[in-house]
Amino acid sequence: MLRIFRQPFTKRFLHQGEKHLKSFSTVAQAEPKKPDIKTSVPGPKTEALLKELSSLQQAGSVQLFADYDKCIGNYFVDADGNTFLDSFTQISSIPVGYNHPELLKAFEDKHSLRSLVNRPALGVFPAVDWPQKLKSVLMAVAPQGLDAVTTMMCGSCSNENAYKTVFMWYRLKERGGKVDFSPEEMASCMVNQPPGSPNLSILSFKGSFHGRTFGALSTTRSKPIHKLDCPAFDWPVAPFPRYKYPLNQFESENHAEDNKCLEQVADTIEKYKMKGCPVAGVIVEPIQSEGGDYEASPYFFQKLQKICQNVINSVRGRGTFLAFNATNTQCRDKIVADLKTNGVLGGACGENSVRLRPALVFAPKHAAIYLDILRKTLREI
Ligand SMILES: Cc1ncc(COP(=O)(O)O)c(C=O)c1O
Repeated sequence: MLRIFRQPFTKRFLHQGEKHLKSFSTVAQAEPKKPDIKTSVPGPKTEALLKELSSLQQAGSVQLFADYDKCIGNYFVDADGNTFLDSFTQISSIPVGYNHPELLKAFEDKHSLRSLVNRPALGVFPAVDWPQKLKSVLMAVAPQGLDAVTTMMCGSCSNENAYKTVFMWYRLKERGGKVDFSPEEMASCMVNQPPGSPNLSILSFKGSFHGRTFGALSTTRSKPIHKLDCPAFDWPVAPFPRYKYPLNQFESENHAEDNKCLEQVADTIEKYKMKGCPVAGVIVEPIQSEGGDYEASPYFFQKLQKICQNVINSVRGRGTFLAFNATNTQCRDKIVADLKTNGVLGGACGENSVRLRPALVFAPKHAAIYLDILRKTLREI
């Protein structure tokens, strides 16, 4: 199972790119000293603009109209000339403040301007300096271990693309590697039916926000108003920890909360497998933001990662009648085959079970060897 993490750009930028940030650290010189409110808020010009915009489009969420020529650094200037100290920065989207001189300079550069004006179809005709740009702009701040990048236009479409990638990866594994699509798969996907359009799911968490496009919306769980009236996939949801604060006074309660949520993640994954819609991926925010700025502990995320890595489950048995299940038949067959390559003979039974029938003289030292080799085999799968 794949995990998808989405971290706000600002946070990633600040954390990973401190060295890059240094060159941006000068706050714009001309910043005002403090907020300056000259009219009622919203002021008369804002009210008039709101009326005009409302006649053209749905504008219920508009708070203020910006005068972006005048916004600077940490200060936002509205249509009525009011100056606000901005602690929300376009929903956390401008990490270096308004009208940063370095960014403005980048747009004055003729080459950069032409790259924008000619609106390249990047998948087909990237510019000659595109690979270098990816390296110097994005890869320079990529989290360790992520050595490739796909560019998308927004958060929602990044998630949409990630979900597709997860499903394709899942099916590739189910097929046992790269094999041709069957005629049945090709015909059935054209009418949105399995096996071409398989019943697979993405698990998300209560309170999560992953965007409002169609697939992403099925994983968004922050507010009903985001989802109402839109058809959605029947995909699983699990609870995200809700801690008591201050953390150092509620350690045991919060640890119990972590374990309760993790248990429900594992149960939900099992439930969806049983109902024929296995969980191919889990998406989780490191800090649930839209849902209420809820954090979870490193322990929660580490255990969640372990749950996602599980390719075996339902370990069971009596005496020497022992078995465990793999996530599917192909995976089971691979475990049995790889165990053999690594020096252990075992059996397969049912649809996805690996069975053991050790001899009565199979001692703890043999069990230790078995487990060592099983762990190595699973790590390699
Ligand atoms: C965690 C998370 N995922 C996805 C999105 C959707 O991003 P966009 O609005 O760019 O589509 C957001 C937007 O706030 C977000 O906070």
